[in-house]
Amino acid sequence: MSATQSRIPATLIPGDGIGPEIMDAVTRILEVLGAPFDWDVQQGGMAGIASAGDPLPQALLDSIRRTRLALKGPLTTPVGGGFRSVNVRLREEFHLYANLRPVRTMVPGGRYEDIDIVLIRENIEGLYVAFEHYIAIGDDPHAVAISSGVNTRAGAERIIRYAFEYALAHGRKKVTVVHKANVLKALTGIFLEVGRDMAREYEGRVAMDDRIVDACAMQLVMNPWQYDVIVTTNLFGDILSDLLSGLVGGLGMAPGANIGEKAAIFEAVHGSAPDIAGKGIANPLALLLAAGLMLKHVGRDDLAQRLQVAIDQVLRVDGVRTADLGGHAKTTDFAAAIIRRIANA
Ligand code: NAI
Ligand code: MG
Repeated sequence: MSATQSRIPATLIPGDGIGPEIMDAVTRILEVLGAPFDWDVQQGGMAGIASAGDPLPQALLDSIRRTRLALKGPLTTPVGGGFRSVNVRLREEFHLYANLRPVRTMVPGGRYEDIDIVLIRENIEGLYVAFEHYIAIGDDPHAVAISSGVNTRAGAERIIRYAFEYALAHGRKKVTVVHKANVLKALTGIFLEVGRDMAREYEGRVAMDDRIVDACAMQLVMNPWQYDVIVTTNLFGDILSDLLSGLVGGLGMAPGANIGEKAAIFEAVHGSAPDIAGKGIANPLALLLAAGLMLKHVGRDDLAQRLQVAIDQVLRVDGVRTADLGGHAKTTDFAAAIIRRIANA
């Protein structure tokens, strides 16, 4: 295959806050790695409002419609007010129903060793459909707040099948369905019901069990090694994936892939970190690991593997780490260390 033939058009969204800093580090690393992406840079979030008056400008949506592939920095969503979460809108727009969030111990000597868990979060249903409204009483316009969640059998089947197929394809032994069917009997009961039905199809190939979300949270702290693949509804997945990142060093270590039939968008689990934006100290690793997932998604496991080797060497051998991992490296120092390892491999 010639170099031009193997190029893959992809949308690149630097994002807000620490987004541009970590994206710059990641794209420089991908360049040295020889990643095949031809970037179409698009602005979103606050940068989108500034440039086009919309956190999701038409040009950004058109670009993803064309490339069906994006690497995305975090986008700031103003709390309250008129804007729906841009991330939720993107997931809905492209039917990105599966959110894959793997965590693995990469820095030895942390609270837990040998963590290797994949969380698969339903990405477009549940309480995040945000069918919400207030009811006014007297002169209080916000006297009552109401929200309805939606889970469909089709949606539950799609994501739970994705989890079982992921387990099969990646040699994993068990899928745990996490729910709150004891209280939200319809909303999350349907998820458990579908999980139990589908487990029969995979019997003998992938084991299945289930947990109530609060007990799961406790067990993830007490004995996380009992988990392999977790599949859960949107809100629980959001919360548990941050918890999981905490097992392996924090949000700086947690990548995510939003996958659907029409597109795939790769990003860090963390947000725009306004508290450290512009200081040059953000950890680019979560976004870099997301780029690794993106390489695997386009069939370049070879490059993903080389990238992972360089990351492990930098963290374990060179001991170059950003402040969130207890080190002193700046974002650019960390990127330079990775680039050195890739170049000398
Ligand atoms: P956050 O994830 O941005 O930050 C939480 C804490 O983790 C902060 O103390 C931050 O400094 C730290 N942190 C996050 N990423 C880090 C990194 N790479 N290196 C070192 N430290 C890091 O969550 P927060 O503050 O709740 O949200 C900020 C904004 O980001 C909000 O507008 C939110 O809506 C948005 N957000 C966007 C997401 C996305 O685009 N996928 C996901 C989550 C939040
Ligand atoms: Mg989250």
